[in-house]
Amino acid sequence: TEDEKREAFRERIDKGEKIEPKDWMPEQYKQQLIRMMSQHAHSEIVGMLPEGNWITRAPSLKRKIVLLAKVQDEAGHGMYLYSATETLGVRRQDLIEDYLYGTAKYSSIFNYPTLTFADICVIGWLVDGAAIVNQTMLAKSSYGPYSRANIRICKEESFHKKQGYEMLAKMADGTSDQQKMAQDAVNRWWWPTLMMFGPHDEDSPNSAELIKWGVKTKTNDELRQDFVDRTVMEAKAIGVTLPDPELKYNEETGHWEFGEIPWDEFWSVIKGNGPMNRERMKTRRKAYEEGEWVREAAMEYARKRKLKDEK
Ligand code: 3HC
Repeated sequence: TEDEKREAFRERIDKGEKIEPKDWMPEQYKQQLIRMMSQHAHSEIVGMLPEGNWITRAPSLKRKIVLLAKVQDEAGHGMYLYSATETLGVRRQDLIEDYLYGTAKYSSIFNYPTLTFADICVIGWLVDGAAIVNQTMLAKSSYGPYSRANIRICKEESFHKKQGYEMLAKMADGTSDQQKMAQDAVNRWWWPTLMMFGPHDEDSPNSAELIKWGVKTKTNDELRQDFVDRTVMEAKAIGVTLPDPELKYNEETGHWEFGEIPWDEFWSVIKGNGPMNRERMKTRRKAYEEGEWVREAAMEYARKRKLKDEK
């Protein structure tokens, strides 16, 4: 019966077993995974835009090569996350269309502009650093394909974070103009990075269910705290200041306390009113629409090849 299946499913989750595509799973588990994994995939793809914008303007050939490789990695992450989502019986095209013309979300962080090359350094350090904290946790997710996709993503994100941190360290050790540029970028990206982890646990409608099913193994606030604790020392080491006067070490808890996140800004960005939301959606829709003939040609090629193979 349905109840027995649910019970057996629960036991597998409690034992830490991975759930695989052909296994029985509750419909709500599947729907939550589709929502979260597709949102993650859309984020990786839209995430190429703020950085892609700087490839031709990176200050040296070395920086161009590194940035190009990094942006390509993000495309790859998007592709394997779409593939992992497809194992749940949905079509990639429907997911993409729900994002471009419907209601599917993508990470708030990609709705901010990259004004100087220092932003590229800070995205590597803070944004990819935050992604690693979130995705190392998701690599332990109960759904096999999602867990494995995140293991691979995290390996590449480590390189992304290191290249960003190394660049920022150089800039923060440079001329006074370079130091100002580095600090200005840190000031603008700090709070939006903390928002990437999602609302406070008490305002997070999905967390309880995701944790019950082992899709997430830590809450939004726990991960945000992990990230702040790691980042304070990294900022000190390279001589940049995190723009939060309330940042304070608590001896008892062993954690860094931080000020109030500007939540109005977070909700406004999520509703589509961030500085770059409209621009990002316009660019992605244009790319999708102009790529129609490529998708058609690829399908036709595959059809003809299949016919030939069958002969
Ligand atoms: N940006 C946009 N929407 C967000 C958000 C954010 N930073 N944080 C929360 N939300 C949305 C949720 O999607 C949810 O809306 P929905 O129900 O319509 O989908 C609503 O706000 C309430 O939030 P919850 O806390 O209840 O949602 P979750 O429990 O799913 O937690 C999450 C949100 C932490 C983003 C979680 O879904 C998650 O870990 N997702 C997978 C990772 C991911 O998507 N990362 C995006 C960044 S990609 C990236 O980092 C690329 C790298 O290369 C830089």
